[in-house]
Amino acid sequence: MTTVHTFSILLFFCSLFSASLIIAKVQHHDFVIQETPVKRLCKTRNAITVNGMFPGPTLEVNNGDTLEVKVHNRARYNITIHWHGVRQIRTGWADGPEFVTQCPIRPGKSYTYRFTIQGQEGTLWWHAHSSWLRATVYGALIIHPTPGSSFPFPKPDRQTALMLGEWWNANPVDVINQATRTGAAPNISDAYTINGQPGDLYNCSTKETVVVPINSGETSLLRVINAALNQPLFFTVANHNLTVVGADASYLKPFTTKVLMLGPGQTTDVLLTADQPPKRYYIAARAYQSAQNAPFDNTTTTAILQYKKKTTTSKPIMPALPAFNDTNSVTSFSRKFKSLRNVVVPKTIDDNLFFTIGLGLDNCPKKFPKSRCQGLNGTRFTASMNNVSFVLPSNFSLLQAHSNGIPGVFTTEFPSKPPVKFDYTGNNISRALFQPVKGTKLYKLKYGSRVQVVLQDTNIVTSENHPIHLHGYDFYIVGEGFGNFNPKKDTSKFNLVDPPLRNTVAVPVNGWAVIRFVADNPGVWLMHCHLDVHIKWGLAMAFLVDNGVGELETLEAPPHDLPIC
Ligand code: C2O
Repeated sequence: MTTVHTFSILLFFCSLFSASLIIAKVQHHDFVIQETPVKRLCKTRNAITVNGMFPGPTLEVNNGDTLEVKVHNRARYNITIHWHGVRQIRTGWADGPEFVTQCPIRPGKSYTYRFTIQGQEGTLWWHAHSSWLRATVYGALIIHPTPGSSFPFPKPDRQTALMLGEWWNANPVDVINQATRTGAAPNISDAYTINGQPGDLYNCSTKETVVVPINSGETSLLRVINAALNQPLFFTVANHNLTVVGADASYLKPFTTKVLMLGPGQTTDVLLTADQPPKRYYIAARAYQSAQNAPFDNTTTTAILQYKKKTTTSKPIMPALPAFNDTNSVTSFSRKFKSLRNVVVPKTIDDNLFFTIGLGLDNCPKKFPKSRCQGLNGTRFTASMNNVSFVLPSNFSLLQAHSNGIPGVFTTEFPSKPPVKFDYTGNNISRALFQPVKGTKLYKLKYGSRVQVVLQDTNIVTSENHPIHLHGYDFYIVGEGFGNFNPKKDTSKFNLVDPPLRNTVAVPVNGWAVIRFVADNPGVWLMHCHLDVHIKWGLAMAFLVDNGVGELETLEAPPHDLPIC
């Protein structure tokens, strides 16, 4: 299925004393979307997969390579594939979110995603961006350093991608469709998984538990990816320290920790050295649950770190994990994130934005039977940013509508601040503020604009740690805190020296995070909560970034095989 062409782009990099030849490759892959029987937790069901694999194939590229992935849809659902964290500079048509940058690939049809990895190294991933298909349609995207360069840390002896996922015994598309009908929260998952396997703590699973081999004294680079649909997860390895060296395909100042927390969408690269007695140790992940009174999957997934020369088949050692609601652990972990080097952060801001993010409750429409209003107190759950609950178009993608000047698909009226100022994180929010308005509203940015967004969680229905993901960009996280953001007090504490560069920020529960980026990638870029249930409820918006001057600042023409609606 996979071929690598070494033809094509030859780039010469000349310095004063040496000239080196770097060969950027074009990799071609075929992704066949198909129904495949998958057995988990004692039951077999047909899952949607890529090439019959669950999780899907791992793609390994070098920084600078071009990927051409032809997706053939042989399943019965519409689908798109998103390359999570890839900047897609000028190639917005290959980004993938359904009805944002393309119409879905219909059953029987195909589409080729073409894009180049530019200036990103580390761990990203790809996933379906349509309904809840990403529950089984996802895989790792590993970006090695440009040939001729290397990691900014000693070369590890081994490398392993560990993808954390979420498994439902039911068809995940049915789970979200049922919730959309009833207005209630969707059913929780039946298991978490590591590389598709639940592990030893679930029924009928121990035979397939993932084993990660290591020799005494070796160092392994673990590329941890949270591919779960709806759950931030703690991750740990019994008796071993983890040295964090990167996240979201950007390097970090190394720091040591026992536990990671990843929101869905986030990746973290860690070094683990086999410095313990040669035994078997559990690698484990379970929920970080910050929302109050919301049901969640409280099970634990495990894999086994196994020293090669170990002689016994003794039970693996189980690590301690933080309590489900241990926000203090999350805070102290995220405060350690710093870019490897000093970075250039925008200091003058052209677009200063303040977005509330949170849940809401729609009053039951008059024509609806009770069965369709099973949210809190006979309502339907909803969610919004700045009180706008995002609705996707269905006739055109936003990017097509923008590029072809098709009117009536969206407006550029997304507000720069919430319509009403209130005590966002207080305990007595007026019920009148629970009901957002629906809309397809974009926020327009001039090419090159320096943007700051304050992401402010609200305590409407419940506060929660929301993993907010921005397509088409990495952003600096310059500050985080609890309660209401206070520009007078909080701005002076921003890290404008070495803040981490990410594509997804876990906004503290009942708190805020501030991100900055330069709008140097023209196109339409979705920003949304990466808890899939919240996307469906409308916790999203999109930026429309204008073209700049000249070809290099202009969105490419759409590919000829771009799916139409
Ligand atoms: Cu990984 Cu729009 O998402």
